[in-house]
Amino acid sequence: MMTLSVRVATAIAVAALIGALTTARVSSQNRPLLSDQVFKNVQALKGIPVDEFLGTMGIMAASLQFDCSDCHVNAGTANVDWAADTPRKIMARRMVNMVTAINQTNFGGRQLVTCWTCHRNRDKPLTTPTLATIYGMPTVEPDDVITQFPGADPPEAVLDRFIQASGGAQRLASLTSISARGTAVGFGGLGGDGSVELIARAPDKRATIILFKAETNRGDQIRTYDGATGWVRTPLNVVGEFQLIGSDLDGARVDAQLSFPGQIKSIFTNLKSGPPTTITDLPAPTSQSSLVQGSIGNQSHVVDVVQGTGPRGLLVTMYFDQQTGLLLRELRFGLSPIGRVPTQIDFADYRDVNGIKLPFRITYAWLDGRDAIVLNDVRTNVPVDEAKFGRPAPLTTR
Ligand code: HEC
Ligand code: HEC
Repeated sequence: MMTLSVRVATAIAVAALIGALTTARVSSQNRPLLSDQVFKNVQALKGIPVDEFLGTMGIMAASLQFDCSDCHVNAGTANVDWAADTPRKIMARRMVNMVTAINQTNFGGRQLVTCWTCHRNRDKPLTTPTLATIYGMPTVEPDDVITQFPGADPPEAVLDRFIQASGGAQRLASLTSISARGTAVGFGGLGGDGSVELIARAPDKRATIILFKAETNRGDQIRTYDGATGWVRTPLNVVGEFQLIGSDLDGARVDAQLSFPGQIKSIFTNLKSGPPTTITDLPAPTSQSSLVQGSIGNQSHVVDVVQGTGPRGLLVTMYFDQQTGLLLRELRFGLSPIGRVPTQIDFADYRDVNGIKLPFRITYAWLDGRDAIVLNDVRTNVPVDEAKFGRPAPLTTR
């Protein structure tokens, strides 16, 4: 049986393994490359953006509770050979084709069966219902896709409450930029305290620049979106730096747009509200300093749930605190050939900045890692360096 702590431990292992890679294997070009142009031995997942390809690796690892080294030779060491086929990798490739075939044959090509459908955190899926599960406490696992819940407030009403709670439409309309500084830690405290610069310009530019201290040997974690293009730099990852062209690009745009709550009603189409529910902060190891400072962590909140659709089928679920009306969680689902790739951004510790409520804690979690950010200096309507929204500046030695 899988317990939460086992899952957390695995997530740390994945993050640590990625963290151990110090050389980027592929230098990025000026134009975005597809999976089979960047990697050497791609047979099942050809012709997809690198961001989506890495998303599929995240899904595989997360679904089987594996880390990269369970399928890849020497992953986590300098001698990693990603391209080499191992028995598990061959099996996984066969399973990619199997899943596609199942969905094609039975569900009109809709991605209803994924690795997670069968594997659920295990290498070998369970075959038989256990009586302990049948008579035990049910675990609540919401569907990805929300249908309008009859008793729930209409989505527009929930969004209006958020606008009101954030400072009101008029004040929000005058918000043109945000410039913030603070500190961040990677999952499990990896990287120690890095310095964070977070800037945004209305309507849709945002950059999060985390510079980890030189002695941690961890490098930078940078995410940018300039209104048209997006970049991620994770130098301790396989590809180091890559341009977003898959659904992560649409996700980055939504992240940027949500920085300016006044426009929230026009960002999405097909708005629906689900049944109100309770959400809890992601479990965190105590080494995650941003969660130990102060009182936040493992709190539960009763929330209104609104889901909207972005470009190219991007699904975004937003959770609004029923007490304060403020946005506590953005859960967005990117696309990949083997299923949806979740990214979850939690917002907490809202404080008043010139009449507008802005979050001072942000936890950005994806399948392969997590950054916990604590801001201590947030300013609005100050000049921001536009160049920082584009491709990250070259690495500098600090
Ligand atoms: C369950 C097995 C499995 C796990 C776990 C896994 N991968 Fe893979 N990986 C594959 C398969 C299968 C391919 C080949 C895909 C294809 O043929 O289209 C692949 C290919 C790759 C490639 C391309 C190598 C090349 O040059 O051809 C990279 C890079 C990669 N994986 C990185 C990762 C990372 C990083 C992780 C951990 C987050 C990871 N993988 C976890 C199965 C796995
Ligand atoms: C319809 C159910 C189902 C789905 C969906 C599924 N698998 Fe499997 N998978 C199995 C079963 C059953 C086994 C065990 C086979 C055995 O024990 O001989 C297995 C075994 C594996 C193994 C070998 C694990 C080991 O023992 O080392 C890998 C790797 C794997 N699956 C990867 C994947 C990936 C990646 C996906 C999604 C692309 C996926 N599977 C989707 C049913 C499924």
